[in-house]
Amino acid sequence: MWTSNEVRKLFLDYFEERQHAVVESSSLVPADDPTLLFTNAGMNQFKDVFLGIDKRNYDKAATSQKCVRAGGKHNDLDTVGRTPRHHTFFEMLGNFSFGDYFKEDAIIYAWDFLTNVVNLPKENLWVTIFHEDDEAKDIWLKVTDVKAERILRLGEEENFWSMGDTGPCGPCSEIMYDRGEKYSCGHENCLIGVCDCDRWLEIWNLVFMQFNREPDGELKPLPNPSIDTGMGLERICSILQQKESNFETDLFIPIIKKIEDLTGKKYKADEEGFPFRVIADHSRACTFLIADGVLPSNDGRGYVLRRILRRAVRFGRHLGIKEPFLYQNVDVVTSIMETPYPELNEKKDFVKEVIKMEEERFFVTLNEGIKKVEEMISTAKSDNRSTITGQEAFMLYDTYGFPLDLTEDMAEENGFEVDTQGFNLMMEEQRERARKANKSDGAFVEEQVINEILEKIPASNFNGYNNLEEKSTVLALIKDGEAISNAKDIEVSIVTEATPFYAESGGQVADKGNIKNAKCDFAVENVQKVASWILHHGKVSGEITVGDTVELLVDQNHRLNTARNHTATHLLHKSLRKVVGEHAQQKGSLVEPERLRFDFSHLHALTEEELLEIENKVNEYIWSMSNVEATNTDINSAKEMGAIALFGEKYTEEVRVVSVADSIELCGGTHVSNTGQIGLFKIQSEGSIGSGLRRIEAVTGKNAFEYLNQAEAKLQEISAYLRTTPQETLYKIDALNKTIKEREKELELLKSKLTKESSESLLDKAVEINGIKALIAQVDVEDANILRQNAEMLKDKLGKAVVVLGAVTGDKVGLVCFASKEAVNQGVNAGNIIGAAAKVASGGGGGRSDMAQAGGKDVTKLPDALSTARELVEKTLS
Ligand code: SER
Repeated sequence: MWTSNEVRKLFLDYFEERQHAVVESSSLVPADDPTLLFTNAGMNQFKDVFLGIDKRNYDKAATSQKCVRAGGKHNDLDTVGRTPRHHTFFEMLGNFSFGDYFKEDAIIYAWDFLTNVVNLPKENLWVTIFHEDDEAKDIWLKVTDVKAERILRLGEEENFWSMGDTGPCGPCSEIMYDRGEKYSCGHENCLIGVCDCDRWLEIWNLVFMQFNREPDGELKPLPNPSIDTGMGLERICSILQQKESNFETDLFIPIIKKIEDLTGKKYKADEEGFPFRVIADHSRACTFLIADGVLPSNDGRGYVLRRILRRAVRFGRHLGIKEPFLYQNVDVVTSIMETPYPELNEKKDFVKEVIKMEEERFFVTLNEGIKKVEEMISTAKSDNRSTITGQEAFMLYDTYGFPLDLTEDMAEENGFEVDTQGFNLMMEEQRERARKANKSDGAFVEEQVINEILEKIPASNFNGYNNLEEKSTVLALIKDGEAISNAKDIEVSIVTEATPFYAESGGQVADKGNIKNAKCDFAVENVQKVASWILHHGKVSGEITVGDTVELLVDQNHRLNTARNHTATHLLHKSLRKVVGEHAQQKGSLVEPERLRFDFSHLHALTEEELLEIENKVNEYIWSMSNVEATNTDINSAKEMGAIALFGEKYTEEVRVVSVADSIELCGGTHVSNTGQIGLFKIQSEGSIGSGLRRIEAVTGKNAFEYLNQAEAKLQEISAYLRTTPQETLYKIDALNKTIKEREKELELLKSKLTKESSESLLDKAVEINGIKALIAQVDVEDANILRQNAEMLKDKLGKAVVVLGAVTGDKVGLVCFASKEAVNQGVNAGNIIGAAAKVASGGGGGRSDMAQAGGKDVTKLPDALSTARELVEKTLS
């Protein structure tokens, strides 16, 4: 029996022997494809190769690709665990041809591998083809021994594969495995292509890539007909390991066992085992997604991860787990998968922490949300409604972070429905509001209108990397989204043929400066790029006309200070990763002339030591006077150089690589030419900005110097106030602290002396009853200890005596009683006296017969308490 590791290897070796390059799985986050939420098929990383935009040094490849289908066009989230064969995370074995072989060889390879290498019985195999694809049918019949009646024609839904709404696509041919009658749903129409039950297992999809689907839906032929195939590793393993379900293969069993250990419950393959399957599946998805840099959040990929993770937690609750547990599955997932994916081992501690923190957070949300949903259900019941309104569900989501699917589940459990349409409407409205808010925030162009104007003129030529001055011609003037030919003393956007002005992008603010000629001076306040045109926005003083020759002058200080901060940002990113680990990835940045801001993924506050180490490293780079090099190259060479690309950023075919010492990043920003120009780097603050997200703010150059100067001035001020030197300040504070402590002690001593003296004046108040002096009094003492000391002192001074003292100590009543041996012999019991007195003042306590102490809550009852004590003493002694 083959293990999953062996099957994966068998497949890759098979194709390697047939001159395919074995290419590593790409990340689950498609780095340069914003049309895609997660990598959902083996072909994703080759999308541009199919399109002819990208070239590789091989034209045949094979991979085992990590995939997640949980959102977007291919979404299996809700099916997981209900069938033996669907997953959010799975591995796809695939072979690819980029204009090399086509249908015939693809079919020969697949049939050969299945029937001769892993020896699947031919009587269990069926083939489907796209209904118009006669060629495929002929080839199947020509090159394999599959029987004609086993080749079925199916429609577009089944046998035309597309990556998404846009992108490469083509007719396909699928190889199906018949698991046998006993798995049939029993329906009379239980047939391939008609029935989706467990009898029919789709194992290998051969896509004949021929088209690119354009955004308008049109199918454009690809430059070269190509091949993209995909076989689910979990599925082929379930057949080869003779298991009833993917969940019983060696890819899942250890995870299921772990869940059994955690819950103390036994897994069953039926409906009862559903939560086990969901948790096992989701454990893999969460582990791999986080290892690939996704963090739980409220939108995009992070939201899908959050949903998967929270769903697993909810199913954990179904199994009776009421505390974070999912993170414990990371080790098991790692041990199953680390051979093909060694990165898991490096990242597993981080992954565990992320999951655990999210679980803890979710428990808080869950408890609050569950209460709210229950309230809503009972309100709905009393209103005679059977639906939770869209608004209610949205409020739960928006205010309490309670996801819609959970509201739906809880509603369903109570026989209720949720108005999801209403919910979606409110979501859409919220998005619209957010979009509008973003737009009005600093955006000064109405892109749609402006595009129409701009399309009539050539793209702007930005030549400002090494140049801050330019003479050029005004090509367009835009006012309120309309083209004008002349502007006089008004606000306007200017487009010139060439410009040294950097438009805001990649977190770096726009340049400032002036555009002038003899007739006008235009102060550039903002620069934005709209498609390929650069728009300078500001106010005209004088008059400017389309066709004018103008001088464009970038403010040098503004540019240089910004460049200092931009280069420092790269050095900070590199140093940060060296100090805290590779998981600390850039999640955002702001580069201004005055300061820089850097957001990154990390779970804990950085320690003082770490911050210092990072700061030192950045300054070492600065003092090493390293040159900053920028080169243009293609994305693959850049990646080979080890350039750091940002998640979710779309990089064009040609990219700019900025290298400085050992930091290499893809970046279009402006930089200093040598790190020495940065001068100095100083971190001002570090803090959290969200779950797993942190922010560093820092300054460079003159700003860093001024920051330190200010700190020094503050210290001067403090030391002057303390009448000492900055060097001696700490010593001085220490000495002051000591003096304060000494004074406090002295004060205590004086106080107790004072109360002792005032207590001594009480001696006269003692009355003698049958040879025992009885003293019962209220004193003015704030501390229970001093109260006790005084009572003891008075008893000693009185000799044969019983002393009861009461005082208001803080906001409580303090009571104490001392009785001499003789008094005790005559029946006095301090414990009883204090017990009875304390009770009067709403308190309790007691003690021995010769000494007892207690407290009470009601200070107004102190005189009554003492009267009670007096009565008891008198009664006992007389
Ligand atoms: N891209 C196809 C699929 O995902 C074949 O790999 O099914």
